[in-house]
Amino acid sequence: MKAEEMFQQAAADFFATAAAAMERHGVCLAAISGGTTPDGWFAALTAAKWPHWDRVEWFWVDERAVPPEDSASNFGRARRLLAAPLHLAAERLHRMEAEKNDGAIRYRTLLAEEKRLFDTGNHFPRFDYLQLGVGLDGHTASLFPFSPALEELRETVVAVPPPRTAVPAVARLTLTLPVINAARHIAILATGSEKTNMLHRRLLAPAGADAPISMIQPVDGDLTFFLAP
Ligand code: 6PG
Repeated sequence: MKAEEMFQQAAADFFATAAAAMERHGVCLAAISGGTTPDGWFAALTAAKWPHWDRVEWFWVDERAVPPEDSASNFGRARRLLAAPLHLAAERLHRMEAEKNDGAIRYRTLLAEEKRLFDTGNHFPRFDYLQLGVGLDGHTASLFPFSPALEELRETVVAVPPPRTAVPAVARLTLTLPVINAARHIAILATGSEKTNMLHRRLLAPAGADAPISMIQPVDGDLTFFLAP
């Protein structure tokens, strides 16, 4: 499958998921990752004539410890490639302030105060839609191989040090596995044969900290891979 076709399918998946979420509780609570893979997905989303953008609340799965203006900022990239073309209201973009020392506590509080994330009585915030990428080292979000963050089962957001196996090597904030796996629908997007071959190889084996992507197992939701070798 060509990348453009994959991104179109991933956009259609988002719209279908959002429609179900809006039917269920009037809004789509979406969390998105960073990196460059979402660029093609953003292009597919912004090209569609979808009329409900004002009913999506955008959150981040992870963020680098840089200001939004920095080229490494996941928020800054999404603001430029998704929010600006769609004229999304700033109040619906819930940025992770990863450049601040208390950024993790701030985002934990922001999530805790968004009551619609808890409207099924769930303990962890439950996103309607959660998009992930994957690195060649098997990381996802900013959960890197053998990271202590993989063992965090209480907090919703943690700070992680600069990774040794991925770029940019900057500190980050990330949602933890309990939050990611609480999502109703997880979409994993990956392009390139190196990533797709790694996924095919690794996901046949049992889940393990050597490849955090293998630990993405929704508790009461579903998981879809969108791959373009
Ligand atoms: C981050 C991302 C990260 C990303 C993968 C893939 O902040 O680094 O959230 O998890 O999804 O590293 O990145 P690319 O799409 O750039 O390959």
